[in-house]
Formats: sequence, structure tokens, C-alpha cells
Amino acid sequence: MALSVAESLAFIQSRRSIYPKEFEGTDVSKEEIEQLAEAARYAPTHKHTEPWRFKIFQGEATMRLAEVQVKALFQAKGETEMTLKKAEKMRFNAAHSGAVIAIVMQRDELERVSVEDEVWAVACAVQNMHLHAASLGLSGFWSTGAAVNFPEVRALLELKEKDLHMGWFYLGRYSAEKPRFKERARVSEVATFMK
Ligand SMILES: Cc1cc2nc3c(=O)[nH]c(=O)nc-3n(C[C@H](O)[C@H](O)[C@H](O)COP(=O)(O)O)c2cc1C
Repeated sequence: MALSVAESLAFIQSRRSIYPKEFEGTDVSKEEIEQLAEAARYAPTHKHTEPWRFKIFQGEATMRLAEVQVKALFQAKGETEMTLKKAEKMRFNAAHSGAVIAIVMQRDELERVSVEDEVWAVACAVQNMHLHAASLGLSGFWSTGAAVNFPEVRALLELKEKDLHMGWFYLGRYSAEKPRFKERARVSEVATFMK
């Protein structure tokens, strides 16, 4: 299956992080989320450990999740002006998303590859998911700002000791083309041909 050079690049370049305040709707079906997981599971994986796991929160469960995030945040950092503001954002993001997906690295029981390899594989899976979302009129953003891997969250996600919670993917409807205001570093800055 080959896209043209222009189509392939344009598709990748059009991926944007879309935030809950920008979502056009929150109606996201179980089947659509399963489609995203289908794309995720074709990410590269060293020794085929397939370390990606996704725990999906929708509706009432999303708001219960926000309360766990808030409680964990206050537990760790107390109630200050800053954490109260953050708590408000956690609740806002949950209330304005069609789903919140916990991104989890499930550690291979035999530890056949490094933790880094497992984490990198999960990041690839998230990118697959994010790219594929556009075909369903969905988008979102990866957040590491809401009580990530905190003990209360780990308990909620039923993680084993060596599993790692790698953040949240806030998902919602989005079909517009979001312009990119910030230019990226040029190819000549990021790619060096070694002599
Ligand atoms: C691992 C990871 C964690 C991120 N965490 C946050 C976050 O906590 N809050 C946030 O606003 N954006 C977060 N982002 C999204 C970035 O802000 C976003 O990718 C960046 O602004 C570039 O925009 P683009 O994805 O539209 O190109 C995260 C991205 C990655 C890859």
C-alpha cells in the first residue's frame, strides 16, 4: 500500500494536538476507540513484547477519574493556588472529552528488552493512534500533566509493580485543519549526514 510522497508527508504534517476546549463534540463510540487500538497495535516492538495497554474512561467514569487525579495531586502537593487551578483544568478536560485513555507500558514478565525499548514502543503506538484518529474525525492530545503514575492512579489502573503509566490521551471529535503557528526546526538542523 503506497501513498504518494506528497500525500504521506501532508498526512503526517497535518497531525496536531487538539485540546478539550477545542473539541467539536464528545460523542466517541467504543468501536471508534477500538479502531484506534487497532492502529496502535501495529507499532514497532522489540522482541514482540507488545507493551502498550490502554485503559479507557468515558462518561461517568471520566469524571470519577478526574476526582482521583485531583485527590492524588492534593495528596502530593497540597492545596495551593497553583494546584487548585490545575484541579480545575483536570475536571474541565475530563468533562469536555469523549474519552480519556490511560497510556500504559506493561512490562514484559521475562524482561527480554530494556524498559526504554518498551517505553519507546508505546510512544510509537500512541503516534499511530493519534494519526489514525483523523480518519474517524477524531483527535486529541497526550498529557503528562495530570497525576501521571501517582500511586492513587496506579491503583486505579491496576498496574503491576514494573508497569508504567505514561500519561493520558484526551480524545474528542475534531475535523478541522488546525494551522501550525510555530515553525519546526529545519531538516538541516535535525539530520546530520556523518562523514
Ligand atoms: C509525551 C508527551 C507529553 C505531553 N504532555 C502535555 C501536557 O501535559 N500538556 C500539554 O498541554 N501538552 C502536552 N503534550 C502535547 C504537546 O504540547 C504538543 O505535542 C506540542 O505542543 C506540539 O504540538 P502538535 O502536537 O500539535 O504538533 C505532550 C506531548 C508529548 C509527546
